[in-house]
Amino acid sequence: MIFPAPVLIFAFFFHIYPGFAQNATLLKDNSPNCSCYVVETGGTPSYFQYHRFWDFRNVATTKNEYTVTPPAVNNSQDAGNELTPDQAFLNSSAWNADWGIQDWGKPSTNDFPVRMQNSPANVYIQQNNVSSYASDYDTYLTLRTVRLDDFQSSAEVENEQKNLMHASLRVKARVVGVKGAVAGFFTFYDDNNESDIEILTDDPVSMIRYTNQPSVDNSGNAIPQSSLNPSNLPSWDTWHTHRIDWLPKQSFWYLDSVEVANNTYSVPRKPSGLVMNMWSDGGEWSGNMTVGGSAEYHIQWIEMVFNTSGPVYGPGGGNRKREVAGLEKRKNNGCKIVCRVDGVKNNGFPEVAHVSAAGLGSVPILSPWSLVVAVGLVTAMMEV
Ligand SMILES: *[C@@H]1O[C@H](CO)[C@@H](O)[C@H](O)[C@H]1NC(C)=O
Ligand SMILES: *[C@@H]1O[C@H](CO)[C@@H](O)[C@H](O)[C@H]1NC(C)=O
Ligand SMILES: *[C@@H]1O[C@H](CO)[C@@H](O)[C@H](O)[C@H]1NC(C)=O
Ligand SMILES: *[C@@H]1O[C@H](CO)[C@@H](O)[C@H](O)[C@H]1NC(C)=O
Ligand SMILES: *[C@@H]1O[C@H](CO)[C@@H](O)[C@H](O)[C@H]1NC(C)=O
Ligand SMILES: *[C@@H]1O[C@H](CO)[C@@H](O)[C@H](O)[C@H]1NC(C)=O
Ligand SMILES: *[C@@H]1O[C@H](CO)[C@@H](O)[C@H](O)[C@H]1NC(C)=O
Ligand SMILES: *[C@@H]1O[C@H](CO)[C@@H](O)[C@H](O)[C@H]1NC(C)=O
Ligand SMILES: *[C@@H]1O[C@H](CO)[C@@H](O)[C@H](O)[C@H]1NC(C)=O
Repeated sequence: MIFPAPVLIFAFFFHIYPGFAQNATLLKDNSPNCSCYVVETGGTPSYFQYHRFWDFRNVATTKNEYTVTPPAVNNSQDAGNELTPDQAFLNSSAWNADWGIQDWGKPSTNDFPVRMQNSPANVYIQQNNVSSYASDYDTYLTLRTVRLDDFQSSAEVENEQKNLMHASLRVKARVVGVKGAVAGFFTFYDDNNESDIEILTDDPVSMIRYTNQPSVDNSGNAIPQSSLNPSNLPSWDTWHTHRIDWLPKQSFWYLDSVEVANNTYSVPRKPSGLVMNMWSDGGEWSGNMTVGGSAEYHIQWIEMVFNTSGPVYGPGGGNRKREVAGLEKRKNNGCKIVCRVDGVKNNGFPEVAHVSAAGLGSVPILSPWSLVVAVGLVTAMMEV
């Protein structure tokens, strides 16, 4: 695989320093040998063509590079035109090829009484202080939301690949801070084609909201079947892997590899992009944040396994109607070498699960699991 120059520059920023277990890399498609990926959902294997992994655990090149929390905006900084504090990393060409840090805002209304303004100042890297060092990670991406006197400063990051059409999307994350904020990780085409994982800091730490939009009807009434809110989950204020499996007829949500919800209501039918945000608008869903309060969404890594449909910038043309470097389709190699992304030694490093007989003369890896894959593979091939 030949990486474009930006990736090599990016790799420089991922340079590691001694003492940490896993090497940092920009792993956009860390599996050159795999021709497709299998994900088990609700007991059934699904096959996908593409894999991406972004790792924020080893961004620092020295200790204490990112231990000072960047200042929040003040009462007069309400236009969203601040820069992200980490220009070298979060404004590099490699980052910008894949991600867009948002700066849009919305006015207050009767239903959403607090004006909201996204600011790049709320998207930054944080690093564990030596005293709080955790062995499996050192740095993480943060999305912050802060309540000012008369507006809410919020954060949103969008993936630039907006032609996902069915996917298994994962984020290793935690949420900390005061009540009145929403941490979102979701697929988005429009308000009626959207599948969400939302953590509300108003909720108990054992509850997460899993929703397919629309969740409100034209008369403003809640649609009960749109949202599942299990309340017996591991605490969202500690690190867990959150996952949406968006399949053609059903959505599934997982927490640390355990299925926690599924829904057939309003499963999105449009090519979509992945969005993450941290926000509040004083409305019924988010609640009100106390002035001076803040909350943070911490992200160690993001993994996407997906198929695509249409141009990379999505059916609507998105905000940049051009091919984005590095996001081009790779050749469809069929499904000869099937890799799995779950149960692997290192998250983000897919491992070969099965090599089909029609493949490169390799021998299938024999395990009960590969039999399951083989059956699924035949099914998948028949569908192609
Ligand atoms: C990590 O990087 C070090 C130094 O560059 C290298 O010796 C080691 O093999 C790498 N480990 C992995 C898992 O890639
Ligand atoms: C890909 O396959 C080649 C040839 O079998 C092997 O040498 C290499 O280690 C594999 N790479 C990965 C990332 O698995
Ligand atoms: C979907 O969720 C329901 C309710 O929890 C459960 O009974 C069912 O087994 C789930 N379906 C699948 C395919 O996992
Ligand atoms: C993804 O695309 C491949 C190739 O077209 C297809 O075989 C497979 O079923 C698709 N996966 C899903 C979940 O639709
Ligand atoms: C690290 O410690 C400094 C100084 O005590 C503090 O200002 C900063 O917020 C800490 N950073 C993190 C990420 O805990
Ligand atoms: C807010 O911060 C900006 C940029 O640092 C500064 O110019 C301005 O004076 C500050 N305003 C207030 C009210 O503190
Ligand atoms: C990235 O840098 C450009 C100038 O090179 C600036 O206009 C833009 O606002 C920066 N973006 C962020 C998110 O900081
Ligand atoms: C998706 O978008 C289309 C076109 O806007 C709309 O007709 C449909 O209701 C939306 N939602 C779903 C689940 O298809
Ligand atoms: C939030 O505060 C505003 C202004 O004080 C109020 O109008 C609104 O009803 C509050 N919202 C909630 C959900 O409590």
